[in-house]
Amino acid sequence: PTEGSPLTPVATVSRYACQRRTTLENHNKKFTDAFEVLAESYEFNNMEGPCLAFRRATSVLKSLPWAVRCLGATQDLPCLGQHTKKVIEEVLQCGRSFEVEKLLSDERYQTFKLFTSVFGVGPKTAEKWFCRGLRSFSDILTDHSIHLNRMQQSGFLHHGDISRAVSAAEARSLRSVIDGAVHCVTPAATVALTGGFHRGKEFGHDVDFIVTTPELGEEESLLPNVIDELKEQGILLYCNYQASTFDMRKLPNHHFEAMDHFAKCFLILRLESSQVEGGLHCAEGDIRGWRAVRVDLVSPPVDRYPFALLGWTGSRQFERDLRRFARVERGMLLDNHALYDKKKKEFLAASTEKDIFAHLGLEYMEPWQRNA
Ligand code: CTP
Ligand code: MN
Ligand code: MN
Ligand code: MN
Repeated sequence: PTEGSPLTPVATVSRYACQRRTTLENHNKKFTDAFEVLAESYEFNNMEGPCLAFRRATSVLKSLPWAVRCLGATQDLPCLGQHTKKVIEEVLQCGRSFEVEKLLSDERYQTFKLFTSVFGVGPKTAEKWFCRGLRSFSDILTDHSIHLNRMQQSGFLHHGDISRAVSAAEARSLRSVIDGAVHCVTPAATVALTGGFHRGKEFGHDVDFIVTTPELGEEESLLPNVIDELKEQGILLYCNYQASTFDMRKLPNHHFEAMDHFAKCFLILRLESSQVEGGLHCAEGDIRGWRAVRVDLVSPPVDRYPFALLGWTGSRQFERDLRRFARVERGMLLDNHALYDKKKKEFLAASTEKDIFAHLGLEYMEPWQRNA
C-alpha cells in the first residue's frame, strides 16, 4: 500500500500539538492555506470557537508526514469536524474551496486583512474603521477624525518595509546588531534567538530575541540601556518599551494569562543592506541601502529563563496546546513565568526547557519540531 493509505498502520495522532512533532515541511498546504483563511475570517468576526477549531485542524494536518489524498484518510485524525471535512472534500474534488474563494473576494475580509497588516492595528481597530466606512489607507490617513497612536503612525510610515518578510540572512545580521548592543552595555548578558527563526523558519514577520543577565535583578536596567545604545547608533526607528510588572509573589493566581509580565520592547530597527549577506530581502530597501525591520526583545529574570524561552519559541498553536495539555491532562498551570502543580500546590523548578517537558511527562521536542 502507498504511504498514508488506510491500509498502512499509522500511530494515532495526538489531540495536542505538544505531542506531535511538526516540522516546516507541510504536505497538506492546499488544505491548511484554506483553513487559515477561514480561521482568520472567524477571528475578524469575533468567533473564537470556530476560529480555534480551524487553527487546531490546520495544526493537525501540518504535523502529518503524508498528504491527505482522500477523505477516508482523515477518519482517524483528531480535531477535524464536519466543517473542516467539507472544506477538505471540496479541495480534493475541485482543487479549491468555494467558501474560501468567496471570503478572499469579500470586502470585509479584504479590508480587515489590509488594516491588520499595519503594525499596531488589530481586529478591534480594523472593525472600528471598517464600520466607519473606511476601506483604504488613504481613507484612514485623510480622515482627520481618526486618531492614530504612535505605534500605528510608525506602522503606516514603515508599512512598505515591515509588511515584507524578513529573511534568515537578515535575522542573522540583526542578531549581531543586538549582540553588539547588548554586550556593549552589559558584557556578561546573553542573547538568544527565539520565535520563528529559532524554529528554523526561512522567513518571518519579525525577529525575536531573549536577553538576560547571569546576575538576578541586573536584567531590570538591561533593555533601557540596550535601547539607548541602539538610539546612539542611529538605528532605532520606533520603540515601545514595557517595563517589567513581574512579581513571583502574585503567582500562580494573577499571572497565568496570555501575555507575560517581563520587561520587553517592540522595535522597528534600521538594517543596512551592506550588513546582510547577499543583500536585503526587500527590493526597495536594497535600492535605498537600508530597510526597516520589526524586532522584539524580552528580558526575563534569569531564574525564569527556561519558561520564557519555551513561551517565546512558539509556535502560538504549540504554546496553546502545551498549556491546555498541562491543565487538562496534568492538573498543572504553565505560562511564560512558571509551572505550577495544582495538586501538590507547588512550583516546579526548571533550569532548561527539557526540565519543563520532563515535569509535564512529555517527550522533549526540538524547536524545529514545534512548528505546529
Ligand atoms: N509571544 C508572547 N508574548 C508576546 C508576544 C509573543 O509570549 N507579547 C510569543 C508567542 O506566543 C509566540 C512567540 O512569542 O510563540 C513569537 O511570536 P511572533 O513573533 O508573533 O511569532 P513567530 O512564531 O515568531 O512568527 P513570525 O515569523 O510571524 O514572527
Ligand atoms: Mn517572530
Ligand atoms: Mn507572528
Ligand atoms: Mn514577535
